Amino acid sequence: MSMREKLDLLQQKRAESELGGGADRIKTQHDKGKMTARERLDALLDPGSFVELDRFVTHRAADFGLADEKYLGDGVVTGHGRVDGRLVYVFSQDFTVFGGSLSEAHAEKVCKVMDLALKTGAPMIGLNDSGGARIQEGVVSLGGYADIFLRNTLASGVVPQISAILGPCAGGAVYSPAITDFVFMVRGVSYMFVTGPSVVKTVTHEEVDFEGLGGADVHATKSGVAHFVHDSEREALAGIRTLLSYLPANNLDEAPLRPATDPPDRRDEDLLDIVPDSPTKPYDMRDVIRRVVDDRDFFEVHRDFAGNLLVGFARLGGRSVGVIANQPAVIAGVLDIDASLKGARFIRFCDAFNVPLVTFEDVPGFLPGMAQEHGGIIKHGAKLLFAYCEATVPKLTVITRKAYGGAYDVMNSKHVRGDYNVAWPTAEIAVMGPKGAVEILYKDEATEAREAEYREKFAHPYLAAARGYLDDIIDPRDTRPRLIEALTTLATKRDRNPPKKHGNIPL
Ligand code: HXC
Repeated sequence: MSMREKLDLLQQKRAESELGGGADRIKTQHDKGKMTARERLDALLDPGSFVELDRFVTHRAADFGLADEKYLGDGVVTGHGRVDGRLVYVFSQDFTVFGGSLSEAHAEKVCKVMDLALKTGAPMIGLNDSGGARIQEGVVSLGGYADIFLRNTLASGVVPQISAILGPCAGGAVYSPAITDFVFMVRGVSYMFVTGPSVVKTVTHEEVDFEGLGGADVHATKSGVAHFVHDSEREALAGIRTLLSYLPANNLDEAPLRPATDPPDRRDEDLLDIVPDSPTKPYDMRDVIRRVVDDRDFFEVHRDFAGNLLVGFARLGGRSVGVIANQPAVIAGVLDIDASLKGARFIRFCDAFNVPLVTFEDVPGFLPGMAQEHGGIIKHGAKLLFAYCEATVPKLTVITRKAYGGAYDVMNSKHVRGDYNVAWPTAEIAVMGPKGAVEILYKDEATEAREAEYREKFAHPYLAAARGYLDDIIDPRDTRPRLIEALTTLATKRDRNPPKKHGNIPL
């Protein structure tokens, strides 16, 4: 064979690999309203930036007639590409090849790009669309999953790991996305569960369909497994690009600085009137956050889960920050189990990746009740506390109104190494609200006059400021310039925890 003939053969094989399981199965995929593995990579990555690896890999199984059924690439497209010019590693499971199921060879391909992501310090993005373990390969496939889980775990806190679920993700296969930092799901396309509807019916006699058991909305609102939910695959993939814009490539890197068009010294008059005069009236903390951050841009994470606590990314003077905020508009912004888990996980991500934390606080305390106590609010609330305590990134707090009880300590108080703690003049910092306090102190003789007396004595920020627990009490209109100034001065902050193998966060 001449060189030209050999090149023709190569070209032919490359073209064959692009077709995955073949034109018919691609059509079936499209008919289901789903994109193919390669179309997804095209939508995710900068145009023309994808470099494929291992396109000629095939499975090595021979049983069940598989010796004669081989597809180049074996059900997963892997390689690297660019997002806004920055390197990322990717795998994209190809449902047209054995339902995207995971064979030994498929797992090896995924492990190869995970190893490269870790070595080069680049984010790892997995696009999941798979029928699970390759049934014909048995335990070899299970071993492949475990090889991936181990890499997910070792890469955790070293490079950001992002999963999109763009089809089925069932059985033990769910645990790779679950270990990654962020999970994206698409309504009507993705579902995740450990055991499917038919097993559920046999075991618990519950009747439920795929969507109701593990669809995108279930995981975005109830279980909290999904951090982002979208109406289309394209929106989800665009969401991944936006998320990456806030993140560093790895734990030794800083997030990219985006030159701000929003002036750092911008004051906001409307901040004067956001907190209502009545301490029991709600307001939307998003209004505060948007008025403070660059270009009113608040990229919320876990938006549909535990709405009483807001978390997400924003920029201040061009710098990425992680925002954690009590939300008085949802059950008065009280902390409960779900909010504690949501906050703790987000804080630990930010701390692992050098993203400073900005806390907006208006919290009446922890949610009382049997369900919370028996559900373990003690250990779950402790996770939020632990996460704040161990974080060594710059930590800023603005108390807009209530900071009561244990929640005052938890929400990045000075005592847990807050670097810059300020309050608005509307802040109330005390062991508990005036009403509860006089009821305990005076029992039946609690009167409105005593409540007013308590309020005057304790429900303000000056006692905390007198102790230095607050660095300042500020005009709300100055919140943005003050935070940007603090972030700038803290840019060189160095702090570390005592050497240890790892802490024992109360799981
Ligand atoms: C091999 C598989 C497969 C699998 C699907 N296929 N799943 N091949 N191993 N796990 C093949 C089908 O035979 C079919 O091949 C093609 O993929 C498309 O599948 P369909 O069933 O036609 O597609 P659809 O109707 O969309 O249904 C998708 C599905 C269903 C719900 C995922 O295929 C399914 O239930 N698959 C089995 C799921 C499963 O039980 N997996 C093992 C779970 S245990 P052709 O040639 O017709 O195109 C597990 C453990 C992981 O994963 C443990 C980790 C620790």
